[in-house]
Amino acid sequence: MEADAVAVASWVAERLLRACHGRRPLGLATGRTMEPVYAALAERWAALPDGERVALRQGWQSFNLDEYVGLAASDPRSFRAFIDQHLAAPLALDPARLKLPDGAATDPQAEAARYAAELAAAGGVGLQLLGLGLNGHVGFNEPPCAADARCRCLPLSEATRRQNAGAFGGDPALVPERAITLGLAEILAAEEILLVVTGAAKADILRRVLEEPPSGALPASWLLQHRAVTVIADRAAAPWVQG
Ligand code: GLP
Repeated sequence: MEADAVAVASWVAERLLRACHGRRPLGLATGRTMEPVYAALAERWAALPDGERVALRQGWQSFNLDEYVGLAASDPRSFRAFIDQHLAAPLALDPARLKLPDGAATDPQAEAARYAAELAAAGGVGLQLLGLGLNGHVGFNEPPCAADARCRCLPLSEATRRQNAGAFGGDPALVPERAITLGLAEILAAEEILLVVTGAAKADILRRVLEEPPSGALPASWLLQHRAVTVIADRAAAPWVQG
């Protein structure tokens, strides 16, 4: 546990930077939790020797978890726009090296299958970064969700559309009704998983994820069965932890 969101971001950025040197692609997440994480990564990146930055740019490979269906890459509310703004631009990465599902594909289910095949061809995820939804979702794996659910297009819950309404002028009805997400199967196949949880609003759901037996009712609870999972939280999200 770290004291606050800034300290969590700094810890996660350090881990991400090490994972950039890995053989397998990074698994990336979007959302408010990740904004300070990517800002901290950009700071460290700027301090690297020029040669190392060039080498890391040339070798960059990442796959995002999810994307809204119906939003084009050019839409500022898309996760493509988020990752370009918070990661590709500050690190001067070639956006083509940052993969996401195409939210504007005419057949989203076929796009999910194409994306899963592209990830498999790249060897699967090395380090998988995850945020936590207020209803226990990871990526957009809404409850109920089996541990072997694969990359797919699915309807978003009312709870999730409310949680993410901020980016849509505060109106949940404007949040897309569907998304494409990597499944728990692809997430659990990562070499290593980092679940990042900050803020008091996540305390109840985090406690349930850690204390309840793994089940589809809480998709994030499946993560605890992974051999190399780390849950990193700030004091606000885990107030019951001593020290
Ligand atoms: C969203 C995204 C997730 C994200 C999570 C937490 O709906 N699909 O990838 O990690 O929910 O979001 P936030 O960090 O904004 O609380």
